Amino acid sequence: MKVLLVFAHPEPRSLNGALRDVAVAELQRLGHEVQVSDLYAMGWKPAIDRADFPNLASDERLLPTEASKAAFGAGELTQDVRDEIDKLLWADVVILQFPLWWFSMPAILKGWVERVFACGFAYGVGEHSDKRWGNRYGEGVLAGKRAMLIVTTGGWEQHYGPRGINGPIDDLLFPIHHGILFYPGCEVLPPYVLYQAGRLDSVGFETAAERLRARMRTLAETPPIPYRRQNGGDYLIPAMELRPELGEPGAEGFAVHLSQEVGSSA
Ligand SMILES: Cc1cc2nc3c(=O)[nH]c(=O)nc-3n(C[C@H](O)[C@H](O)[C@H](O)COP(=O)(O)O)c2cc1C
Repeated sequence: MKVLLVFAHPEPRSLNGALRDVAVAELQRLGHEVQVSDLYAMGWKPAIDRADFPNLASDERLLPTEASKAAFGAGELTQDVRDEIDKLLWADVVILQFPLWWFSMPAILKGWVERVFACGFAYGVGEHSDKRWGNRYGEGVLAGKRAMLIVTTGGWEQHYGPRGINGPIDDLLFPIHHGILFYPGCEVLPPYVLYQAGRLDSVGFETAAERLRARMRTLAETPPIPYRRQNGGDYLIPAMELRPELGEPGAEGFAVHLSQEVGSSA
C-alpha cells in the first residue's frame, strides 16, 4: 500500500517524532511505500490569504471559497498545495499525526487541511437534488482510501472517558474524523491515542510503540468507524437530518451518525 503520513510537531526529537519513526519503520518493513509531509520541516504556510490566489486582481474582493474553486478548476493552486493534493491522490492510506493542542490539531495541520482540501476538490462537488446533497460524507474524491489519526495527549485516559472532564475523546475527534476525513470520502479507522504522553518512561514507550506497530500491521483490515453515508438513505434531504425512525429513541449528538455503537479508540 501507499501511505501518506502528515506530521505536525515542531521537534523531531519529541515523543511524536519517535512515534512517527516507529510507524514509518514498521510500514517500510512490511513493504509499504511511505511519504511523510513533515509540516514544520517543510515550512508549511498555514493560513489561507491572497498569496494563495496570485491570479486574483489586487483590487478584487477575496472570497476564499470562490477563489479556491476557481484556482482548483484552472489548475492554478500554488505549487505547495498541488504537491499535497498529488500525495493525497497517490495514497491508499492517509495518516494525520499530531499532539492534541487545545483539544484539537495544531494550527499548522488545520492550515494544511484548509489549503489542501480545496473547493471543487474536497468539497463543493457533486449533484444537489432531492436524492443527493453533493458528494460528501462517505463519497467524494478520497473515496476508497483509508484514514487514521495518531494522537498524543497530556491528559489521562479517564479525563477523556465517557464522563471525563475533558469530554469523550471520540466526541473531541469527531470534527476531524467525520467533518474532515469522512466528508471527502475516506473510510476512517479508529484512532491511535496515547494518553499522558508527558509521563512515559522507556517501558511505557516500548509498550506504546508496539501498540502502534500493531496498528500499522492491521491498516488494511481494521474495520472503519461505521459512519452513516449521507446519500445512503438514512438522512432526509435537504434537511440533512437523520430520519426520525433511526437511532435510539431520544438519541442526539455525534453518536447518532454511527450506524451501530462502537468503542472507537485504540
Ligand atoms: C499549546 C499546547 C496545547 C495543549 N493542549 C492540550 C490539550 O488540549 N489536551 C491535552 O491533553 N494535552 C494538551 N497539551 C499537551 C500535549 O498534548 C502533550 O504535551 C503532547 O501530546 C506530548 O507529545 P510530545 O512530547 O511529542 O510533544 C498541550 C500542549 C501544548 C504545547
